[in-house]
Amino acid sequence: MTNEKEVRQALQGVIHPGLKKSLVDLGMIRDIIILGESVELTLALKAVQGPLRNRFVSAIEKIVKELPGITQVAVKITTLNQEEIEQLFPTIPLKGIEKVRHFYAVASGKGGVGKTTVAVNLALAFARNGFRTGLLDADVYGPSVPLMLALPDSLEEKEGMILPREKFGLRVVSLGMTAGETDAFIWRGPLVSKMIRHLLERVNWGDLDYLVIDLPPGTGDPSITIAQSIPQASILIVTTPQEVSLIDVRRSITLFQKHNLHIAGLVENMSSFRCSHSAQPIEIFGHGGGEKLSRETGLPLLAQIPFDLELGRSGDSGMPLLVSAPDSETSRIFLKVTSELAAQAGEVAR
Ligand SMILES: Nc1ncnc2c1ncn2[C@@H]1O[C@H](COP(=O)(O)OP(=O)(O)OP(=O)(O)O)[C@@H](O)[C@H]1O
Ligand SMILES: [Mg+2]
Repeated sequence: MTNEKEVRQALQGVIHPGLKKSLVDLGMIRDIIILGESVELTLALKAVQGPLRNRFVSAIEKIVKELPGITQVAVKITTLNQEEIEQLFPTIPLKGIEKVRHFYAVASGKGGVGKTTVAVNLALAFARNGFRTGLLDADVYGPSVPLMLALPDSLEEKEGMILPREKFGLRVVSLGMTAGETDAFIWRGPLVSKMIRHLLERVNWGDLDYLVIDLPPGTGDPSITIAQSIPQASILIVTTPQEVSLIDVRRSITLFQKHNLHIAGLVENMSSFRCSHSAQPIEIFGHGGGEKLSRETGLPLLAQIPFDLELGRSGDSGMPLLVSAPDSETSRIFLKVTSELAAQAGEVAR
């Protein structure tokens, strides 16, 4: 017997050609009802007679009819509301990111779990694997990327466009570098969104394979608003192994999913501690949180990063681990994750 979850999973295969995401992730498939051998669902489009309507309906019918025990499919059509249309199909093209191919936003339900550390080192690992990579520090509460990369807190402009700072092979922009521009902003939801869109429009990111985005902590509005400003972004969720951290992380996963944002997977940080006195890694922050969450949510556990004093120290000194010790065991974990993400996206390093 097929259930709603299986219908949703199967329909992940119907991709919107313009937005390059599945109709399920875009929130365009709704109200799935299964009655015996028949499935009824609603497809939400920009317009009832939209140009892609027939294509979507036939793809949905074909896929659903192939599910075990299903012989009939009824697709009702509805329209997206104005807010959803603006969200999914921004009217002003974001000029600055036109030539960016993939976006990964690093998030967590909790502060201090190592989001920035992961974002910075992942970005550097993409660059080291030969990809053209940018890093956007979108932490509205406390942008810390300038500190981790020892960058000045200002940006330069050329021909009306902001230029990212170049460091260690990355192009970097941080909210901490935009003091002059952001003075007037109070960080509330709509303004956060406006500021991020402004940065994505006005920063000349140029040709990039990857743009890694460091999101603020928590499940509050800013993370969701920022992620929604870049609907094509995939989210990477950072967690630590202990149960208390999982509670917040679960909440943030639910929230991202509710807003139809695609979650690429989980990264467990501070998994274990290797010390010179013991051959066995010590699990200071508990055990198995990432694996447990992965089983519960069906999200892949992409990496387990150990508690590594050098990783912490290097970040705090402006010379991240991927730069100071690129061949270390921990650096290799970051390199492996980026290779895997690239392989998933069918990308080949240049
Ligand atoms: N695996 C690790 N091993 C050792 N130290 C780490 C590790 N990951 C992060 N740290 C250290 O922990 C502290 C917090 O990390 P980081 O700033 O990356 O967290 P964050 O989640 O971005 O925090 P915030 O919520 O404030 O943005 C930093 O001093 C960092 O160097
Ligand atoms: Mg941070």
